[in-house]
Amino acid sequence: MEKREQLYEGKAKKVYATDDPELLIVSYKDDATAFNGLKKGTITGKGVINNRMSNALMARLEKTGIPTHFVKELSERDTLVKRVRIVPLEVIVRNISAGSFSKRYGVPEGIPFEEPTIEFSYKNDSLGDPLINTYHALALKLATKAEIDTIKDYAFRINDELKAIWKKRGVTLVDFKLEFGRLSDGTIVLADEISPDTCRLWDSETGKKLDKDRFRRDLGGVEEAYAEIMERLENEE
Ligand code: TMP
Ligand code: ASP
Repeated sequence: MEKREQLYEGKAKKVYATDDPELLIVSYKDDATAFNGLKKGTITGKGVINNRMSNALMARLEKTGIPTHFVKELSERDTLVKRVRIVPLEVIVRNISAGSFSKRYGVPEGIPFEEPTIEFSYKNDSLGDPLINTYHALALKLATKAEIDTIKDYAFRINDELKAIWKKRGVTLVDFKLEFGRLSDGTIVLADEISPDTCRLWDSETGKKLDKDRFRRDLGGVEEAYAEIMERLENEE
């Protein structure tokens, strides 16, 4: 499958057309941003790791009955995916307090929840991805009620699966962000990526952060953390 014209360049990936109108190639970059693009940097080797990790995790999810956009890894940085129209919602699942949850509600990071939580942000950079509820998503016609129900069901099932995968590897899945898309026939599938850019992953013993928070918060050892979390995933497989 050959790359045709570039269709889109995002903060962390480029998207190319192929000769099949239903398939695209995503190409992962080493560019990193945070705080809605305010902070910019490079995490050397990140694109290779995120590509490999996202593909491995999506392949696992497919096996448990979650449809995803993943088709085939083409190279270190390039993956063939199904073309989707992205549902403009960032779907965030949390198991433990951290990040904007802790900030918004004034609670320390690291408090485990009885039950996972789910929240939605309106994916809109110029508005700063505002938090919305499902009524707002319906009012804004971002998705239908049936689509939102499907997305919630998938998101919690994905959480169960990912939590178990990481637990075996001595890693606690704190929270993560998902994006879903519609295939040309309207089927909802998991899209975008699942990587240390989009998840909080803490070493279960030491609590060491093995994700993009090292970049966001200037904690140092960013590249090393990405390499370590990738190694943890692959070594158990
Ligand atoms: P938050 O605590 O900052 O809301 O982040 C929740 C999770 O979502 C965390 O695992 C990081 C991820 N995330 C993204 O993937 N993209 C984003 O733009 C933001 C703000 C968070
Ligand atoms: N990637 C997002 C941005 O540029 C934020 C993040 O992951 O923290 O703003």
